[in-house]
Amino acid sequence: MRSNLDVMSSAALRSTTQRTTTPRAGGLRRSLGERLHKVASAAVTPLEPSDVLDLFNPLRRGAELRARIVAVHAETDDAATIELKPGKDWAGHIPGQYIRIGIDVDGRRQWRAYSLTHGPRPDRHISITVKAVPGGVVSQFLVHQAKPGTLVHLEQAAGEFVLDHTHHKLLFVTAGSGITPVIGMLRNLFPVTDSGVLGLDKLDQRSPSLSRGLDIVVVHLAPSEPQTIFRRNLTELHDSGAVTVIPRYDDVHGVFDVATLAELVPDLAERTTYACGPHGLLDALEAHHAERGLELYTEQFRVGAVEAGEGGTLSIAGQTLELDGATTILDAAEEAGVLMPSGCRMGICMGCILPLREGAVRDLRTGDVTVAVPGETPVAGLPVQTCISAAAGACTIEHKERVR
Ligand SMILES: Cc1cc2nc3c(=O)[nH]c(=O)nc-3n(C[C@H](O)[C@H](O)[C@H](O)COP(=O)(O)OP(=O)(O)OC[C@H]3O[C@@H](n4cnc5c(N)ncnc54)[C@H](O)[C@@H]3O)c2cc1C
Ligand code: FES
Repeated sequence: MRSNLDVMSSAALRSTTQRTTTPRAGGLRRSLGERLHKVASAAVTPLEPSDVLDLFNPLRRGAELRARIVAVHAETDDAATIELKPGKDWAGHIPGQYIRIGIDVDGRRQWRAYSLTHGPRPDRHISITVKAVPGGVVSQFLVHQAKPGTLVHLEQAAGEFVLDHTHHKLLFVTAGSGITPVIGMLRNLFPVTDSGVLGLDKLDQRSPSLSRGLDIVVVHLAPSEPQTIFRRNLTELHDSGAVTVIPRYDDVHGVFDVATLAELVPDLAERTTYACGPHGLLDALEAHHAERGLELYTEQFRVGAVEAGEGGTLSIAGQTLELDGATTILDAAEEAGVLMPSGCRMGICMGCILPLREGAVRDLRTGDVTVAVPGETPVAGLPVQTCISAAAGACTIEHKERVR
């Protein structure tokens, strides 16, 4: 649907592009444009014309970046793929990267990161696959309630978990929803056609630059076969000879032990490993690979916390809160009704930084304590990531945001 304002602006645009570019014509264009803007502003006061354009065409160029949900496909009982049409200013992505999407829940905007599960597509749509975590605010909504037509806030793709094209022998180790960035890479490398996956032999003829002599093994861990996200795709990729998939199901093979990796992948030492899964698995892989001098790239969905400290009293937004040493400042403040800035909630996006004016906070990933002392540390305070910091004694965080 086109609004009058849409029509007016495109009419104005047509008139400008068809005129000759003398200085006088430029002046006329400007005054015509200014008059149209004034008329539009008067018609929509107190809204800005851009607000009205957003109402009718929220995905237009120049609007705040958003995406419209165009389809929701169930993957398993508790996981679904959400297909999105991004706004016109979407800049594209490299397979393996993630996006942050924002949805408003109970009047609060919640931002979460999700890996993209396709390469760039001809229809310009993007997709994410979400596993609903118990009690999860955003994942439960996306998996069980999101409907086609819903608009979500969107940020441009980010992340460095992407393939280095100098590597030819690859090992992917993925667990649960950790398959998502990897399936994005695999679907991009091996297009899925109506007649099945294009294996390396066919790909060589069609697009030698894509296959470039790749040799890929995927060790995928899941609780059970039915709970495996992208099970069909993984089987097709394996059956076509594109990749070798080695599934490991907890209910059949027992809980995976990284010490057995070399038995499953005898030429492990020749491969570069890309891994995505829970932090316990990634920590174990890091130690395993470091000991053997093997190359490893990882992507983590959730922060792994070290032992909690003592906790303390947090002063923020006019509130005084008693915190234990394991609760993040972000969670505690939100729980108390403070509107907090946030993003990934795991220490990567810097979307939650606030100044620590006084006292001490503890980084839950490393155990490091940051101390602000008035008169000694900068007047503006020390920047701390509230999503991974807990109180370590009394502390004051500067934040003027209202309380709900
Ligand atoms: C770079 C990146 C990429 C990601 N890609 C994906 C993806 O492709 N698919 C996907 O499903 N998720 C992905 N995530 C995780 C996602 O961003 C959310 O953390 C997850 O959906 C939970 O959000 P929530 O609002 O439902 O849970 P919250 O309301 O934030 O938390 C509810 C409870 O669940 C726990 N919890 C939070 N996250 C997880 C988790 N990942 N696993 C288990 N328990 C959790 C919390 O500690 C809390 O107790 C990614 C995260 C990052 C940082
Ligand atoms: S919310 Fe992303 S770093 Fe804290």
